[in-house]
Amino acid sequence: MQTVDIQPSFNIENWQKGYQSQLEEYDYWIDDIEGEIPPELNGTLFRNGPGLLDINGQLFHHPFDGDGTICAIAFQNGRARFRNKFVRTEGFLAEQAARKILYRGVFGTQKPGGWLANFLDLKQKNVANTNVIYWADKLLALWEADVPYRLNPTNLDTIGLDRLDGVLKDGDVFSAHPRVDLSEGADNPVLVNFGVKPGLSTTISLYELDKAGKLLNRSNRVIPGFAFIHDFAITPNYAIFLQNAIDFNPLPYLLGFKGAGQCLNFRSDRPAKVWVVPRQANKPMQVLETQAGFIFHHANAFEADGAIYLDSICYESLPTVEADSDYRQTDFDSLSPGQLWRFKLDLAAKKVAPQQLLSRCCEFPSINPELMGHQYRYLYIGVAHRPQGNAPLQAILKLDLETRQERIWSAAPQGFVSEPIFIPRNVQTSEDDGWVATLIYDSSMHRSALAILDARNLSAVATLRLKHHIPYGLHGTWTNHYFD
Ligand code: CO
Repeated sequence: MQTVDIQPSFNIENWQKGYQSQLEEYDYWIDDIEGEIPPELNGTLFRNGPGLLDINGQLFHHPFDGDGTICAIAFQNGRARFRNKFVRTEGFLAEQAARKILYRGVFGTQKPGGWLANFLDLKQKNVANTNVIYWADKLLALWEADVPYRLNPTNLDTIGLDRLDGVLKDGDVFSAHPRVDLSEGADNPVLVNFGVKPGLSTTISLYELDKAGKLLNRSNRVIPGFAFIHDFAITPNYAIFLQNAIDFNPLPYLLGFKGAGQCLNFRSDRPAKVWVVPRQANKPMQVLETQAGFIFHHANAFEADGAIYLDSICYESLPTVEADSDYRQTDFDSLSPGQLWRFKLDLAAKKVAPQQLLSRCCEFPSINPELMGHQYRYLYIGVAHRPQGNAPLQAILKLDLETRQERIWSAAPQGFVSEPIFIPRNVQTSEDDGWVATLIYDSSMHRSALAILDARNLSAVATLRLKHHIPYGLHGTWTNHYFD
């Protein structure tokens, strides 16, 4: 008989320490290494996330309002070089010079001075903190409500706002969740991304860029109602958007009491809408309805058996970011965990069949990039150490979607993981031939480390300990280019 382990897998004070700002910018060769860096690992891992959680002791209300800091770990010949640098956005430079908060944040950060100081101030700070991609010789820091910031991929210096050589016009935005379609082969990658302009009705712009950054396709679609869409999924024929069941009451935001993100109200009584948008602009889109909870991220989508399958992380509800709350005091037990679901979309019957794939608390899905938009077998995802309940992500899980076999590598109780990034071996022999890399926060030393796992069995290949901590991050990418 199995005994029930009632010890929590983490300590809340340890978790909180990972939200301390990192003000230093570093550049060094990593020499504190356990295990061995695979000599064939050549390229650069870029990662973005809020590096600044306060200004001069004034806390941002939510980590999503924190200024983006880019980390780069460049690998060559079994060695690794670490760099981190803030994206020098207009807002970052102004606030650092003033040594105080000058902007309202989407997630509730207010300028000092109460509601009067924030009244009708709709100026948002582009924090450039959500993702970072290397595309068409440009390193781009992404934030979903504005255009990208371009950086120098070697020293991470900020070059400035980048409209992708005129692709993005005035008022256009470029989301933080582009997908790379490799259906036409590794030599012809297509970057597919979207931008959302919400309102009483919502405009979704779809962009497709070739490897040189040239616009192949742009279409605008209008869907009724307000939409909060953070991520999407693609197949060779479709772009799929999930419109969460959300109400938006802008009044407290306009009046200065709340940030825009705090005026979202999740409606568990209403279904979500799944918009299936043909990537060819002249074809009509279709909409299906399903109970999906709240969704930020999708793992993948693919077409099979005359249907479309969409794999997503679903929450029973969206917690509201309260005005007087402190995110560092999160009561994990009171919140519903993210769980992995598969939605079978039957376009002919206009029916959606949901099926749960993983009940363990999970977030930040990752797959072999070659299979983006295609039927795939292996999923890598951040999970809680325990199979039940809601908790911070402390482990990486590999799910075999064919056999349902799960493998877990855990950093508990002192370690906290971030998004796993799959790095394919140059010449792959199987879908899972490669590595999974994740930046972990080790609270026992108040330092971060990069864990490199063998993607086949999740065994630890190498742990690269940094000299300092990096606050919990969001998304990143691997590129085979080595930047020295
Ligand atoms: Co995201």
